[in-house]
Amino acid sequence: DNVSSVKRQLTQLFEISLRETVPGESDVVPLVDSCSEKSGVKHGDYQCNNAMVLWAKIKGKQTGFRGPPAVGQAIMKNLPPSEIIESCSVAGPGFVNVVLSKNWIAQSLHRMLIDGIDTWAPRLPLKRAVVDFSSPNIAKEMHVGHLRSTIIGDTLARMLEFSHVEVLRRNHVGDWGTQFGMLIEFLFEKFPNPEEVNESAIGDLQAFYKASKVRFDSDSEFKQRAQQAVVRLQGGEIRYRKAWKQICEISRTEFHRVYERLGVQLEEKGESFYNPFIPSVLEELGNKGLIEESEGARVIFVDGVKIPLIVVKSDGGYNYASTDLTALWYRLNEEKAEWIIYVTDVGQQQHFDMVFKAAKRAGWLLADDSLYPKATHVGFGLVLGEDGKRFRTRNTEVVRLVDLLDEAKSRSKTAVLERDAAKDWPEEEVDKTSEAVGYGAVKYADLKNNRLSNYTFNFDQMLNDKGNTAVYLLYAHARICSIIRKSGKDIEQVKKTGKIVLDHDGERALGLHLVQFSEVVEQACTNLLPSTLCEYLYDLSDIFTKKFYSNCQVIGSPEETSRLLLCEATAIVMRKCFYLLGIEPVYKI
Ligand code: ARG
Repeated sequence: DNVSSVKRQLTQLFEISLRETVPGESDVVPLVDSCSEKSGVKHGDYQCNNAMVLWAKIKGKQTGFRGPPAVGQAIMKNLPPSEIIESCSVAGPGFVNVVLSKNWIAQSLHRMLIDGIDTWAPRLPLKRAVVDFSSPNIAKEMHVGHLRSTIIGDTLARMLEFSHVEVLRRNHVGDWGTQFGMLIEFLFEKFPNPEEVNESAIGDLQAFYKASKVRFDSDSEFKQRAQQAVVRLQGGEIRYRKAWKQICEISRTEFHRVYERLGVQLEEKGESFYNPFIPSVLEELGNKGLIEESEGARVIFVDGVKIPLIVVKSDGGYNYASTDLTALWYRLNEEKAEWIIYVTDVGQQQHFDMVFKAAKRAGWLLADDSLYPKATHVGFGLVLGEDGKRFRTRNTEVVRLVDLLDEAKSRSKTAVLERDAAKDWPEEEVDKTSEAVGYGAVKYADLKNNRLSNYTFNFDQMLNDKGNTAVYLLYAHARICSIIRKSGKDIEQVKKTGKIVLDHDGERALGLHLVQFSEVVEQACTNLLPSTLCEYLYDLSDIFTKKFYSNCQVIGSPEETSRLLLCEATAIVMRKCFYLLGIEPVYKI
């Protein structure tokens, strides 16, 4: 059972209390939440907000209560005794405030230091999920939209994996479709000898794509050949399949260069993979009476959308939607995934909305989205340039992702070399740090925003060492590590013999924030919002610096042992946050 999060443990206590308070009401769900510092006056660390809603439900009945505050009082009185709670009070119209026991917080921290941070991993009510992310298209550009999908998808996968969910990381590459007819014919023209085809001969695949498109649009004889090529490819003709594979392979190498830089793991199951399953899936949907004829095409109508989802085009071909319906079927039935998550720009929201609604009509998914199995579209906004328009570089129309990552690294290298401490670092260490900081900066700048909003790509901002940036956070972590190093103590030994005491307000505030790690990860998973975790990490570093470190001397103080343990716990939680965000930590500055 999950006893990892404070919120869950309190929820269990309030559940018992609520059952006791209103025995007649069966399905009362405890509403327990942490109290935010930001909301001003804080009467406690956590709050239970059931009294008002409960009052509305019972006021007509003979319960003896005289209003919400009395209900609140009863909820408080009926709480079973617990070592977690220091004290309780009822405020306003019946809020039950809980102050946590600082000894309990200290013990939880100590236990985590001994048993490891993984004991704080949330447990989600599912075994297996698919995260469909990155998913660029063969021979077309892998653009900043795909970068966002890669970064967000990887983080979601990491958070779910940490939370004991088995994640199938799927790269749904666009490797099937009519563009291949034209690409293959163009390839045959350029390289009559297939042995000559390789990456360096083709050069830039995007340029190759453009050139073939020009040919396609200007020469009707070529266009016809290209259209036949699609049929021959789909019919499985060896020569065409081979050319298709060659083109895919070149794209793949290019994609992999980006994934390697970013430290992202993905398993490719492209659109072509699902192709053989499409006919039988459509047959099933047809048998269920979902498929209709419309203007020569075969379509599915879904609730609340006027236009139908086209599943077979009027020329008899399959499309993006037929593939996605089939992939969803495969993931549910063959892969037995309970949560299927799609990370793309918000522009594809309607597509997924229609696919999911069709799947609900088919009975594959439940109508209630709070139950598993379920499918969720994780949409995100645009990456903008300084001019407020879609992000592009000065001379080319698109930003090559490898160039972008190169620039992030070289800029951060310049900054690293300016630091005194790095003067006598070996080249390798400078390089490693520059990569961690540079790529971390790009990732964090993306993840810290609510994913639905657009964000402006700005190297100067993301590489600033002040403010809410990866650089600031990485250095904050390195500084904590250096406090521990400077103490000269063997921290593993201190863990065994030392004790954590949270008498100072700064110590308590830090301890409280640390024990909330688990529920924050759980919340970020449930809402599929990496920004929640970024906010937590930023607050952690802020509380450490402003409340704890600026008020509580560590080295040489009577509380040194306890405070070193607090430093260590902070560093461990920060590193786990970095890990979940796909950022490499830095230990020295
Ligand atoms: N290839 C698509 C694109 O570049 C994204 C695919 C997303 N995944 C999916 N199952 N449709 O826009």
